[in-house]
Amino acid sequence: MLALAIRGFRQGRTTRQVSPNVVDHALSSHVIAYQTSDMKQLVIAIDGPSGAGKGTVSSTLAKSLGYRHIDTGAMYRAVGWKSQVEKVPLDDENAVAELVGRVEILVEAGTVSIDGHDVTKVIRTSDIDKAAAAVARLPRVREIMVALQRTLGEAGGVVMEGRDIGTVVFPTADVKIYLDASADERARRRVGDAAHTGGREGHEAVAASIAARDKSDSTRAVSPLTLAADAFYIDTTSMPIDQVVKTAMQLVSEKINA
Ligand code: DC
Repeated sequence: MLALAIRGFRQGRTTRQVSPNVVDHALSSHVIAYQTSDMKQLVIAIDGPSGAGKGTVSSTLAKSLGYRHIDTGAMYRAVGWKSQVEKVPLDDENAVAELVGRVEILVEAGTVSIDGHDVTKVIRTSDIDKAAAAVARLPRVREIMVALQRTLGEAGGVVMEGRDIGTVVFPTADVKIYLDASADERARRRVGDAAHTGGREGHEAVAASIAARDKSDSTRAVSPLTLAADAFYIDTTSMPIDQVVKTAMQLVSEKINA
């Protein structure tokens, strides 16, 4: 069952497969990823829509490996937040790009700050969901953000999560994982995510907002959310998160030990 849920493919064609034995091993092993200082510092790309489990998987992988965890969604959220604070119209490409060009964004150890303001918590609202999706549609903004993300990850030793990490930011990433789940399951998870909605929003409202963002993220002209040809695809709809984490760890440890 699980093996069927893990596959890399391009336009429906399977290109990478994880054997059932490998998956069984991943699920039964407690210590899967190993990293010593003389090992190659990998770039690990984790992509997928919101609510697919990217945050938990990325932060756990990063902790286990002693890597940095870069949440690029939080970077777009910080820009959306700052644009709102400065009353910059979210569809004014030149104005938002000018803002991105002059602000300082820091992402480290699960926190995000912009121009010295720690915005880690305030960017997890439905209002900022929309603002982030709006600024992420702007080509000039993406250009600057992608350059920044490349600088942050180029030395390796990084787990970077987002929508376009394996396709645009690091097309040669050492490991690419695409996490997915049904829209209904992703909405269910979001409703229960106190850090995001504070549990205030109902399933229908959250599902509608996720559907709107999915549409915005996957139909924009530049770097839409798509599956890289060489990514491992994991459907997490009916997988407990610890199984998803272990499976991702196994894929990484195979690369490290190859
Ligand atoms: O992962 P998230 O929900 O925090 O992302 C916030 C928004 O930013 C979302 O609309 C997708 C967008 N995004 C993007 O376009 N590219 C990325 N690399 C990361 C996020």
